[in-house]
Amino acid sequence: MTRHFLKDDDLTPAEQAEVLALAASLKASRHTGEAPTPLRAANGVPKAVAVLFDKPSTRTRVSFSVGVAELGGYPLVIDAGSSQLGRGEPIEDTTRVLDRQAAAIVWRTFGQDRIEAMAAVSRVPVVNALTDAYHPCQILADLQTVIERKGSLAGRSMTYLGDGANNMAHSYLLGGATAGMHVRIGSPESFRPDPAVLERAGRIAAETGGSVAWTPDAAAAADGADVLVTDTWVSMGQEDEYDTRVAPFLPYAVDDAALARAAADAVVLHCLPAYRGKEIAAEVIDGPQSAVWDEAENRLHVQKAVLIWLLEKSS
Ligand code: CP
Ligand code: NVA
Repeated sequence: MTRHFLKDDDLTPAEQAEVLALAASLKASRHTGEAPTPLRAANGVPKAVAVLFDKPSTRTRVSFSVGVAELGGYPLVIDAGSSQLGRGEPIEDTTRVLDRQAAAIVWRTFGQDRIEAMAAVSRVPVVNALTDAYHPCQILADLQTVIERKGSLAGRSMTYLGDGANNMAHSYLLGGATAGMHVRIGSPESFRPDPAVLERAGRIAAETGGSVAWTPDAAAAADGADVLVTDTWVSMGQEDEYDTRVAPFLPYAVDDAALARAAADAVVLHCLPAYRGKEIAAEVIDGPQSAVWDEAENRLHVQKAVLIWLLEKSS
């Protein structure tokens, strides 16, 4: 059976732990031990991984390109504007062309239904590189960063302040619950998480010993947090709403006051790109508790682990 990674809870808690352990070992041995090259065919020919973008990207583009190359493969990066998919070719038709020539497909797109449609027909693993609903690769990188800073995940509290209805908030709920963390979302009432996602994350948390909660009270959400995270108030595709999306979020900024409420040794994360003076204060993101550059680097390691793991499970 072909395995895909379309949303955080496509990995069971045990599988998520396996992927994170593999990511740590890939990171530790990147420039020393023998590099695994599952994307190099027996005859030495590199296998392609198609990496498609319907939205802009820096980190995802770079980390998948470098990661695929490091695994012995060839990253075939395609932007919507330069493909027939961008002109309306059916997703299924594009997929059937890609899966005969690529070992895996990575896609950043809009609706989750689009990547689900691709996975429904693809004979090779499909990886979500961000949709409007989820950003599961990012959350794995965040979890790797928390393990590096704190030693473990289960039982730790992670607070997200800002747009509770966006892809990052939903992935923190699902990915954090899978890891057994206590995930709290602080957001305005009108930007609260999708109730279906909150409920799904709650069910996972009940199994892992974690918990999930939403509150409109930013201060209460931040209280004692081991990990304090935020994300842009204006996600890709929402640029026209900029003027109406800033004011409601002002009380949810990750600034010195929010950080002072978190645990004294709290780690600060942000998936980037960051807007200093909006969702995060410059002194916080550029301060000693910020781990955002490790977080960005860890995209490389977790995504290599995801690709290796999916290819192994699908063979
Ligand atoms: N965090 C993240 O996904 O960054 P990019 O949009 O630059 O890929
Ligand atoms: N929520 C943001 C994440 C960017 C990596 C967006 O979708 O634009």
